[in-house]
Amino acid sequence: MLKLGVLASGRGSNFQSIIDAAESGRLGASVEVLVVDNPSAFAIKRAENHNIQHLFINPRDFASKDDFFVKIAAELKGRGVGLVILAGFMRIVRKPLLDAFPMRVMNIHPALLPSFPGLHGQSQTIDYGVKISGCTVHFVDEGMDTGPVIIQAAVPVLPRDTEEKLSARILSLEHKIFPEAIRLFSEGRLEVEGRIVRVKKRSGQNELEPEASLVNPPLGY
Ligand code: GRF
Repeated sequence: MLKLGVLASGRGSNFQSIIDAAESGRLGASVEVLVVDNPSAFAIKRAENHNIQHLFINPRDFASKDDFFVKIAAELKGRGVGLVILAGFMRIVRKPLLDAFPMRVMNIHPALLPSFPGLHGQSQTIDYGVKISGCTVHFVDEGMDTGPVIIQAAVPVLPRDTEEKLSARILSLEHKIFPEAIRLFSEGRLEVEGRIVRVKKRSGQNELEPEASLVNPPLGY
């Protein structure tokens, strides 16, 4: 079974959604190890609750950022990890980890990329005034939130939205699409060609049909 190595820096609610999906058997993957760069990350507690091994790797112990990622790559490789999950990991991943796991590092971002990359995607969204936002799971490359997009989900931005309210609605979708992206990967259904990620259909499955559009404010409002 595919082994996941999860990197996190904080709360770890996405980590929890992945643990829950793995435990339910619908991921086709198991969480092998959690790596944190912050010893007070709440994600550690979640790992403990589920008997998942966790490692704190302190970036300050390394002469360079690359060395920090060399160490992470070695720890993950040593445990047979096949897919690396960035679940609220607040650092730009460097080449040594990406070279060790080519197109095998996934991240989730709380906006519809390529809009509003980087920190505080939700407040950037509100400040810009867009009417539809959402979240994106993508493969990671050396840029900031620039890698090939795997799956996205949209939410309307409401007139009275605050950063907190919008973040909460986006987060509940994050918890759905991140496990979904991992499931598609574990089923061998993701094909990457340049920037384009194609999701192969199962044998006998119909072609994707466009679903109803999201219009906000709704037509005729
Ligand atoms: C999420 O909003 C995610 O999109 C972003 O960082 C946040 C992590 O939240 N990359 P959590 O730690 O998973 O609760």
